[in-house]
Amino acid sequence: MAQNWNPTSWRSKPIQQVPDYPDMAALQATEAQLATYPPLVFAGEARRLKASLAKVAEGQGFLLQGGDCAESFAEHGADTIRDFFRAFLQMAVVLTFGAQQPVVKVGRIAGQFAKPRSSGIEKKGDVELPSYRGDIINGIEFTPEARIPNPERQLMAYRQSAATLNLLRAFAMGGYANLDNVHKWMLGFVKDSPQEKRYRALADRISETMDFMAAIGITPDNNPSLRETDFFTSHEALLLGYEQALTRVDSTSGDWYATSGHMIWVGDRTRQPDHAHIEYCRGIKNPIGLKCGPSMTADGLLELIDILNPANEAGRLTLICRFGHDKVGEHLPRLIRAVEREGRKVVWSCDPMHGNTITLNEYKTRPFDRILTEVENFFAIHYSEGSHPGGIHIEMTGNDVTECTGGARALSADDLQDRYHTHCDPRLNADQALELAFLLAEKLKSGRDEQKIAVNG
Ligand code: PEP
Ligand code: CO
Repeated sequence: MAQNWNPTSWRSKPIQQVPDYPDMAALQATEAQLATYPPLVFAGEARRLKASLAKVAEGQGFLLQGGDCAESFAEHGADTIRDFFRAFLQMAVVLTFGAQQPVVKVGRIAGQFAKPRSSGIEKKGDVELPSYRGDIINGIEFTPEARIPNPERQLMAYRQSAATLNLLRAFAMGGYANLDNVHKWMLGFVKDSPQEKRYRALADRISETMDFMAAIGITPDNNPSLRETDFFTSHEALLLGYEQALTRVDSTSGDWYATSGHMIWVGDRTRQPDHAHIEYCRGIKNPIGLKCGPSMTADGLLELIDILNPANEAGRLTLICRFGHDKVGEHLPRLIRAVEREGRKVVWSCDPMHGNTITLNEYKTRPFDRILTEVENFFAIHYSEGSHPGGIHIEMTGNDVTECTGGARALSADDLQDRYHTHCDPRLNADQALELAFLLAEKLKSGRDEQKIAVNG
């Protein structure tokens, strides 16, 4: 157990990104209520995810992590969840086929509500209001009332997370993820895009393999891995009062776990080693993600690894690198060298979204070609350093949104206004996400082929 740690020890540390709740008594009452609610996930599930991530850290597998930048109360419908899950499954199938390795599936979902902001104030014309901090804290409407942090929202976020998780568990275990359905995951609006043809060709090959296996007696009925899939949840552990209320002791091991999601991560703005967010995360046993942006130094990273993963346990720590297409070449190699030199076991994941945000026509957007460039550089650097490019972390949706420019449909700056729905950062739509998956599959396949050549030669 971590020394001098308990679920409240973060409260005595400096902290960033704290909402200004006007009624502290109401906040405490809500936190006390949440502490009596059932856990959303179980310690054994978090351990299973950690074991899968341990294989990725050892070079055997790939982490696919993605979902909304910010979940919203307004978009909490079954269709939205189902369409996200379909797009995600499609990506996973493309990657599994390309990499010929297990793909660990982790959604940014069922808890991804709290947002760090670069400024505490949002200005429109002459009006200044507190920034929107995610539906778990305040409302997105630009009015003084909506922007007041309201603790009741934590209860709504908890309930929405529970309902979302319930549906996701049903989709993952109840037949929807059955590989016999591989053709049915295609989303309507992706149907006439170049991705459709590529996906259909791949799905045909999978169906053919399924037919062959059925002929020799291996079917989804008698083989659970053909009809079910592991799907895990994750979010940024930003609102620590909420996290603390859902931190529970696992009765089998006696260890503390965050039960708000299987994996939680620390954002790039809240990763100061002596501050509250790192303090909270060091004491719980879940798999942890750590965002690494351009200001992360090699020594700073090693210090954080010492705090978060002192036992050097594979699967415990995922480094989510988000430098930008033009900065990844400068920053990633020095971090890889320091970590590899010290023999630290980590999963290296690439977030090609957060370093590539620009503003066009007053919309925050991300050019798809820059996202692809960061991913390509991430792979090239890992292959040249001899380390494993272990994962991808993206903001995406199954909806037909127009938030990131480019992609096969060449969305332009003028298209952004058509269907720009995100509550925070711009997301890839399912078509763009699938296009990215095909690129990743190619990269993983060429990495695998090179390894084979190295072994054979
Ligand atoms: C995010 O993942 O939505 C986010 C805010 O990322 P970062 O902490 O890397 O800026
Ligand atoms: Co974001």
